[in-house]
Order: sequence, then C-alpha cells, then structure tokens
Amino acid sequence: MSKEKLDKYLYKWPYFNPSEEKSWVKEGDSQFVRYLPEKKEELEIDSRWPGFFPSPICFVTTSDSEITALEKVVGASIVNRFPYIIALSFCIEPLSKRHYVRSRFMETLEKGETVCVHYFEPGDDIDAVMRAINEVSDDNIDKRIEFTGLATRKAKTNDSPVFSSAYMVYEAKLVKPGKDFSGNPIFEKPYTDFGSHRIYYLEIEAIQLREDISNGTSQIHWKALPEWEPKNQLQNEVVATTTPLIDVKYQKGYSPNYFFPSKNTIGFEYDTIENGMAIKVLPQLPEDQVEVDNDRARWPCFFPSSVGMITTWDSSGAPNLMPCGSTTILVRHPLCIGVCVSYAEINIRYAPRGSIRALNETKKFGCGVPFINDTIVDAIKYAGNISIDSDLNKIVNAGLEVEKNEWSPVLPALPIHFDCEVVDIVRLGTHFLYIGEVKAIRVREDVNQENPLNWYPYPDVLVNN
Ligand SMILES: Cc1cc2nc3c(=O)[nH]c(=O)nc-3n(C[C@H](O)[C@H](O)[C@H](O)COP(=O)(O)O)c2cc1C
Repeated sequence: MSKEKLDKYLYKWPYFNPSEEKSWVKEGDSQFVRYLPEKKEELEIDSRWPGFFPSPICFVTTSDSEITALEKVVGASIVNRFPYIIALSFCIEPLSKRHYVRSRFMETLEKGETVCVHYFEPGDDIDAVMRAINEVSDDNIDKRIEFTGLATRKAKTNDSPVFSSAYMVYEAKLVKPGKDFSGNPIFEKPYTDFGSHRIYYLEIEAIQLREDISNGTSQIHWKALPEWEPKNQLQNEVVATTTPLIDVKYQKGYSPNYFFPSKNTIGFEYDTIENGMAIKVLPQLPEDQVEVDNDRARWPCFFPSSVGMITTWDSSGAPNLMPCGSTTILVRHPLCIGVCVSYAEINIRYAPRGSIRALNETKKFGCGVPFINDTIVDAIKYAGNISIDSDLNKIVNAGLEVEKNEWSPVLPALPIHFDCEVVDIVRLGTHFLYIGEVKAIRVREDVNQENPLNWYPYPDVLVNN
C-alpha cells in the first residue's frame, strides 16, 4: 500500500484513556465499560462516537429539478443483495455542532429521489470535497459542488452529478414499495427514522468503475479491518471440543487485505465504457438480478465494508458468532448498530442464518470489532462458513475463547465489544436489518491512547506492476 497517500487519513481510537475517564468503569480485571445512552448535555459538548466501529467514508451527490447537493457519509453500507440496496443515514435531530440536521440535503434527496455515491483516490480530491462540506453550510448546500472546484458530468441513470475524478460511483434511487421473493411486503417507506437519524434505503441502478481498474491495470486496495497489537495475552488457551467441520459444498473466502480485481474476486462485468469508466446497469427487477450460482451471486463490484463479530446466545444455550460484513453504525443517539442478516433461500451463500432465531427471540446481540491478526481472521473464516445449526461448539472450534457475559457472548480476544438491544427489524428483500441500540461498550484494558486501533477510512488505488 502506498502508505504516504493514506497516512494523513489515519484514524486512531481511542483518543483518551478509559482508565482516566469518569464515564468508563473498570469491570473484572481486564476491561473498561461505558454504559449508554449518553445525556443530551454530554453530547452537546462532544458527539464523536463513544466507541469505535471501522467505517469507510464516501461522498454523496443528489439533485432535484432545481438544485444539486453534496454530503459526506461515514459508514455507507450494502444492506441487501437482491435488490441491491445501499443504506445512507443522515442526522434529523440537532445534537451538537458536528451532528446538525442535514435539512436541505435531505429535502433535495427526497424530492429528486436519487443519489450518486463516490469514491476518490486518497489525496487532493478528497481534501477539496471535505473543505466544501466543512466550509459551505447546509443552508447553502446548492453551492457546495461548485466550491469543490472539481468537474462533474451527468450520471448514466439519474440527474445527480458525477464527479469526473471519482474512480468508482454507485448510482441509486430511493426504494419503492414492493414484495420479497416470498411475497412479503417490503419498503412501505423508503427510510426508517430512529432516534437522531433517518436511514434511507437506495436501490443501486448502475455502477461505474474506472477503466484501468476494470481491466486490472490498477487495483483497489482495502484494509478491511483495523490494525492493532494486543499488549496483554490475546486470550486464554482454547481447545476445540469437537473436530471442527469444514463445509465442502461452498466456502466463502476472506482476507482483510483486499485487492480488487484479483484472482480471488469476480471480474467486473460491465456493459459499456464511457468517459473512461466501465459501466454496468443492473437489471430493474430483483427476479432478473438473482444469481443462483454462489460465486456469481457475489457483490457485482467492490464496495468497502468491514466486519462485525455478531454474537448471540442460541436457544440451545450455546454461544454463537456470525461474522457480518453488512454491519455499520446507523444512528448517533441513541447509538445504534445495523446488522444485515440473510433470511432468503437463494443458495448456500444467501441462506437463512441460525442467528436469526436468537436475534428474534432474545432481542439481544453483541458486536465485536475484529482486527488484523491470524487467529481472528481464521475465526472469521470458520464462523463465517459454519452455522450453529451444524456446530454447537462453533466459537471454540473457530479458535476463540468465550466469556459468559449475560447480555451476549463476549470474545476476550477482540479489543472492543458493543452490547446491543434489537429496537427495530426491517425486512429488505433477502436480508433483515436489525437495528441494535448500544447499551454498553466494552474495551480491553490494553486498548488506550498509547495502544490505539489504527484505521484508514478510504480504500487506495494502486497501479498493478
Ligand atoms: C467476511 C464474511 C462476511 C459475512 N457477512 C455476512 C452478512 O453481512 N450477512 C449475512 O447474513 N451473512 C454474512 N456472512 C455469512 C455468515 O457469517 C455465515 O453464514 C454464518 O455461518 C452464519 O452463522 P449462523 O447460521 O450460525 O447464524 C459473512 C461471512 C463472512 C466470512
């Protein structure tokens, strides 16, 4: 990775020492806990996230018949596979200077009903867009795009402007009411309001990818997990209780060091090349989009995401772990994490997950933050391919120790863990979105200002030699 290009965007968490903060309490001998929700007065002073979840940053344009607008979104996430949906959330309740209401942006989006979601190479363009967002207020949002000084052109499927220098663009429109593959109604409304935020569901209609990336001359590089070094022992020794299973039918691979395209990814199957961009227009109906073959059913192009380690207590009493790429922070107050879990029966890749039972019955889950470490990555591969329905000892067989926290199983090897309560369940087509309100944040004792997690919120583009 070209470190110098990305280094100025390095985010370190925590920027404080839990041992020195009143709001964090020591529990047991190796963790600090912060109970939520916070008070409004606390938020007014500082509304930065009280805990860290690795989230990518993108830039979104929208337009109605009169104006065009621009915003930044932290944690945009693909939340459903068929139809292919991206969720974007915006503040609707004033909390602080940082979390103010994005009124004019949302008015424009709701009137025009479309967006273009952009990814730029780390460097001047990101800085120009950030400057425009920071210096031009939401009241003057129609001036932001011009303020960036960057060239734009027309999108393929809608009227939201496309920045010419973005290397990847997702064009999407607000969802309309429809039915899933079993005839259940979906999307009575194109958004969900919860607490301080409105979560919009947008169906992806077209994807643009720079031509040199589409043909492999350049590659996107994405570090999907934060870097971190435990200072204390990672965990107590774990002994597998039964022979770990390997599902021979289909194995979903995983590497947090992700290159696209590469021999492990599908190629980007585009329709045309225009303006130096390979463009794929997705079929309009989910029925026409469905790919039954497990490999072809993968996401059609790279999209930056991380992984949440979703833990539950199964009705059998066994602790469960479901690695979940579609995990993101959706609401600031009360702090909520969104987790998208497949319920559809499309193929092995998209099958109903065992975790659904516990999520629906107990309404409780844990969300651990993984990091780049061989033991953790091996555990993601095992637990992400074996259901609790075929291995009740899944977590230890994945090589992880479990701590019997009453709320949700805690994995002591992970630096951060959120205890969440399910406050809403949204049916999206192939996946349920579980919105989980964070009740407590747990961090290991060796997570502190001197030993923070390191995270790069932007993917890089590298020329392939
Ligand atoms: C890196 C990775 C990301 C994953 N992301 C998701 C996801 O976003 N949603 C989902 O339903 N399954 C996802 N899975 C698959 C589940 O983790 C997997 O099916 C798991 O075995 C389900 O366990 P369960 O049946 O015990 O709940 C992912 C797997 C991996 C390896």
